Amino acid sequence: MSIRDFIQALPKAELHLHIEGTLEPELMFALAQRNKVNLPYSSIDALRAAYDFGNLQDFLDLYYQGMSVLQTEQDYYDLTWSYLEKSRAQNLLHTEIFFDPQGHTERGIEFSTVFNGIHQALTDGQRKLNISSELIMCFLRHLDEADAFSTLQQALPYKDHIIGVGLDSSELGHPPGKFKNVFARAREAGFLPVAHAGEEGPADYVASALDDLHIVRIDHGNRCLDDAELTARIAAAQIPLTVCPLSNLKLCVVKNMQQHPLRQMLDKGLLVTLNSDDPAYFGGYINENYLAVQVALNLSREELAGLARNSFKASFLPDQLKQAMIAKVDAVEIHQT
Ligand code: HPA
Ligand code: ZN
Repeated sequence: MSIRDFIQALPKAELHLHIEGTLEPELMFALAQRNKVNLPYSSIDALRAAYDFGNLQDFLDLYYQGMSVLQTEQDYYDLTWSYLEKSRAQNLLHTEIFFDPQGHTERGIEFSTVFNGIHQALTDGQRKLNISSELIMCFLRHLDEADAFSTLQQALPYKDHIIGVGLDSSELGHPPGKFKNVFARAREAGFLPVAHAGEEGPADYVASALDDLHIVRIDHGNRCLDDAELTARIAAAQIPLTVCPLSNLKLCVVKNMQQHPLRQMLDKGLLVTLNSDDPAYFGGYINENYLAVQVALNLSREELAGLARNSFKASFLPDQLKQAMIAKVDAVEIHQT
């Protein structure tokens, strides 16, 4: 079995995926036409050519522009369904999906329109594709905390179908502590807290996400490695990191894949998972992320299987299901015959 086939055969979970970041240029153009939105690109190729980012903000500018084509429940359904079909074909068994309500409500789209479209697709994904899923609602950190409070309020009627709250968008200048109160309220309401931290921001931001927001999983987390004591603390507590290799490369968080700190993270005993973040913008879904680090860092099949096991271990699945999924990873033949 080739390494590519081995990665394909591994049952996997994805824990860091922005549904708006799965909007492929073809669907973006189709929805622009359907909703009579003008895109400032003459063709799909011209749009793809613009995906050349120097940092996180360069990407976010196009990400928010891109999501402006999403307007109806059907649009959100089509977006989500397309991600689920692609992922199921890569042997993804479970996914925990971020969405950015403020990226839509700011443009006058109702929270219910966004939620209903995504949720219906996830329900169909469970039934027709046998892929399980959870939803995590993110607050945009470049907006203020009052805006996040209002978003939390709008989410309350859908609480039974939204497992957690997260924090994303422009990191530098927006430390986690800015959202201390709204995270406290969200935790009281029963949402599990996660946050992007240490993607571009310093190790201090990772510490603040832990201490001020009491997060149970760290999205990215790369920069925690700058602080040995913090790294040891995260490893000891086995707080998972949702690492996104192709995202890190495209957003210049790493210079090249050979310099990706994944192996360092593993060596320090961190509970690391691999994820695609915004696959339509960063050039690959889950398997392409596994393959990119395997090639660059020469990961063994045991190490790849370990990362797949971690993806279930770090998920919000109930323990019994985690064990059942991990048993499926164990059943994949590691040794070449
Ligand atoms: N970082 C911060 N915000 C985001 C990202 C990311 O990688 N993707 C979508 N919003
Ligand atoms: Zn992200």
